[in-house]
Amino acid sequence: NQYVAIMAGGIGSRFWPKSRTNFPKQFLDILGTGKTLIQSTFSRYSKVVPVENIFVVTSEDYTDIVKEQLPDIPVENIVAEPFRKNTAPCIAYIAFKIYEKDPDAVMIAAPADNHIPDEEKFAEVMIKALDFVAHINAITTVGIMPTHPNTGYGYIQHAETEVAPGIYKVKTFTEKPNMELAKTFIESGDFLWNSGIFTWKCKTIINAFEQHLPEVYELFYSEKEKFNTPEEKKMIESVYSQCPSISIDFGIMEKANNVYIIPASFSWSDLGTWNSAHANMEKDYFDNAVAGKDVMVFDTHDCVIHTSNKKLVLVQGLEDYIIVDTEDVLMICKKKKNRR
Ligand code: GDD
Ligand code: MG
Repeated sequence: NQYVAIMAGGIGSRFWPKSRTNFPKQFLDILGTGKTLIQSTFSRYSKVVPVENIFVVTSEDYTDIVKEQLPDIPVENIVAEPFRKNTAPCIAYIAFKIYEKDPDAVMIAAPADNHIPDEEKFAEVMIKALDFVAHINAITTVGIMPTHPNTGYGYIQHAETEVAPGIYKVKTFTEKPNMELAKTFIESGDFLWNSGIFTWKCKTIINAFEQHLPEVYELFYSEKEKFNTPEEKKMIESVYSQCPSISIDFGIMEKANNVYIIPASFSWSDLGTWNSAHANMEKDYFDNAVAGKDVMVFDTHDCVIHTSNKKLVLVQGLEDYIIVDTEDVLMICKKKKNRR
């Protein structure tokens, strides 16, 4: 069977003041489309696997928000983490949980903060990835054509020959390089960004944990009988309290030698900052992007304006600003053109 685990436990701090620790960006309508990021993500994956096979892994503080925003997902598929330990423990948890029920399971681990407008093309690529990993012990990621040196991404160099149509073996994976290295990667023209959309058999990623993050593997493996039982919650609390905090990228992707990349044929953006939100929002003739009602702009260019919908917002004579009004914070700051 095929599954999707949406990882939605991050805090999205760069979208302050809209994104708050108690209500982070994946639960916000950052682009002003009428859908929150997790709702768009869910809709995208519901074209890839049946809805009852979609899980959301998130901090226990956010499970009620997930229930409210994704009423179609079975409540038992909302998986709560007692502590924020980054993506490696999150993936170990869900991979063991699914594997213990379905040892042949194939899964996608998906970020909740991607913006991918073309759902059809996206589904095609993901179906291809699921099919590929069903037959070999491989990890795949989707590769993105980079546009600028950015230290927030993983950089991937791959072999030239295809192992299957549109799929290449990864030669090197470098997570979050420093600026100097990121520039070198971009100038060489030889690297793709990691999208963070991974596919594998549960068995394959569990083996990778055993090999590359043995202490995390041991913690989960030693309690494997308790998954999907009434004892799971208590067991997870104890496992997580002992688990190191580490991302899957540093913990496994940089080290594993069975990683393959599928260069994306769809447009992708990681909604990481207000600048990237501006770039992906619908804009008026003067390049202003507005989310929220009752906004009046005069003689204003290149601004992103998010309102709380509670009052009229009037902007005059500004260029290149981020204006975010929430119930308790009003933020007005320079956007800095072209900085991402
Ligand atoms: N459940 C859970 N628990 N989810 C988490 C946790 C956690 O502790 N930490 C992060 N997440 C979720 C985030 O909400 C997001 O949807 C996803 O996991 C990825 O985490 P980010 O914190 O956004 O990672 P990143 O953007 O710094 O880097 C990753 O994505 C880049 C592309 O956007 C890496 O995979 C990079 O290599 C990649 O280029
Ligand atoms: Mg991210």
